[in-house]
Amino acid sequence: MSLDGRVALVTGASRGIGKAIALRFAEAGADLACADVVYGSASEPGRDATAEGVRSAGRKALCIPCDVVQYEQVKAAVEGTLREFGRVDILVNNAGIARDRLILRMTDDDWEQVMHVNLKGAYHLIKAVARPMMKARYGRIINIASVVGISGQAGQANYAASKAGLIGLTRSVAKEFGGRGITCNAIAPGYIETDMTEDLSEEMRNQIVQNAPLQRLGHTDDVAGAALFLAGDDASYITGQVLVVDGGLTL
Ligand SMILES: NC(=O)c1ccc[n+]([C@@H]2O[C@H](COP(=O)([O-])OP(=O)(O)OC[C@H]3O[C@@H](n4cnc5c(N)ncnc54)[C@H](O)[C@@H]3O)[C@@H](O)[C@H]2O)c1
Repeated sequence: MSLDGRVALVTGASRGIGKAIALRFAEAGADLACADVVYGSASEPGRDATAEGVRSAGRKALCIPCDVVQYEQVKAAVEGTLREFGRVDILVNNAGIARDRLILRMTDDDWEQVMHVNLKGAYHLIKAVARPMMKARYGRIINIASVVGISGQAGQANYAASKAGLIGLTRSVAKEFGGRGITCNAIAPGYIETDMTEDLSEEMRNQIVQNAPLQRLGHTDDVAGAALFLAGDDASYITGQVLVVDGGLTL
């Protein structure tokens, strides 16, 4: 599956699933614009492990400090990508957070922060890439949702609602942009081993492994492989779909 000559913009690319997607895309031949809220603060732009990995694969990498909640920063990130690479073919809306709490204990801030990063952030990115992708009459938009956006989850009402919203956004964008050669799909991962899931109790971990037909938690590469497929030419007639990557957990 080749992405030779393509340019991809991945949000939340500094670690976890976003990093794995950026590296997999680079190995397939794409140049990468890596956008993350940590660039410019915790890590130095250009010296990030994701960017170094992209460059080791022989591709170009740009690290862009970007909080997806702030539209001005998102616009600047897309403009920076266009200035550096002249195009943006693939967008992966991966940046996401969780603030898990039962509804009775949930604060408005827990609700709003999760909705803003996970849902409004994706809307901001899609809005910012829409014109250049439409002009090119080509685009691949991939939104990283979650199985809990389909099934719901106690203690994750804000997160599940944001991911269900992302699936609705995906289907709407697929319909709105399809005529311009742009596809939009979502990936719904199950439990993937990253910093986000490191606090899972041993009991919960064992329960997931026992309930999943494939009998393990997911790896970031499991999601990256699905993203590569949706970004490539083999998926050119697929749009508005949700690809579940959960080892069969939600069957
Ligand atoms: N890990 C899982 O089990 C799992 C399951 C289903 C879905 N997901 C989704 O996959 C995506 C990646 O998750 P992960 O497990 O790699 O998490 P992670 O916490 O390791 O990485 C998330 C990345 O997003 C960045 N980010 C957070 N807020 C941001 C903002 N406002 N602007 C820009 N970047 C921001 C973080 O800096 C970080 O690099 C998320 O959308 C998450 O909801 C994860």
